[in-house]
Amino acid sequence: MLANRFLRIAVLYALFGIGLGVYMGASGQFLNRGIHVHANLVGWVSMAVMGIIYRLYPQLQHSRWAAVHFWLHNGGLPLMLLGLYGLLHGYGWGEPLTGVGSLLVALAFLSFALNLLRNLEHDTVSAARGEPLPQQQALH
Ligand code: HEM
Ligand code: HEM
Repeated sequence: MLANRFLRIAVLYALFGIGLGVYMGASGQFLNRGIHVHANLVGWVSMAVMGIIYRLYPQLQHSRWAAVHFWLHNGGLPLMLLGLYGLLHGYGWGEPLTGVGSLLVALAFLSFALNLLRNLEHDTVSAARGEPLPQQQALH
């Protein structure tokens, strides 16, 4: 289930982001703050909220935009964080990689938004029971 995949990945980002926070606090080195912030907020918080939304409105998972969202978010964010590492530590590849990763993450949010705005009103009850949606053809 897409919702659960988002939730599992989100909690892994929480472990990573919080681990990095503890490391930064203990070492007094805050260079990686941007990685900490975005792993926690785009990885943990955003993906957890989105996972809960997919769970609350299961019909959203049937839209093709949900799969697009999943792969853009989970492809883009690791690239964005790795790029940010390169950028913050002075590697030449950091800036272009951050750019590409950020763009993919922004497109991921856009696909999630499109899906939510178009399909929020569809029947949630039959989708929650795993029954085919009466209006499934109408999902965009
Ligand atoms: C045990 C858990 C955590 C530790 C030890 C920790 C540690 C830190 C440290 C050391 C900084 C840098 C402070 C500085 O540069 O002066 C920081 C910044 C930040 N952390 Fe965490 N953090 C933790 C969890 C979280 C979580 C769960 C979130 C978000 C959901 C978060 C969001 C932020 C944000 C947004 C900043 C930037 C704040 C600013 O710019 O003023 N942190 N954290
Ligand atoms: C494509 C997505 C995103 C891009 C390209 C992006 C980019 C940036 C940039 C360039 C900064 C300034 C960094 C600095 O001054 O060192 C920043 C800071 C910040 N962003 Fe994002 N951001 C994105 C998504 C998000 C999201 C979704 C959240 C929250 C849910 C978020 C929360 C923050 C916070 C709290 C800060 C301040 C961190 C600090 O003070 O160190 N960002 N972001």
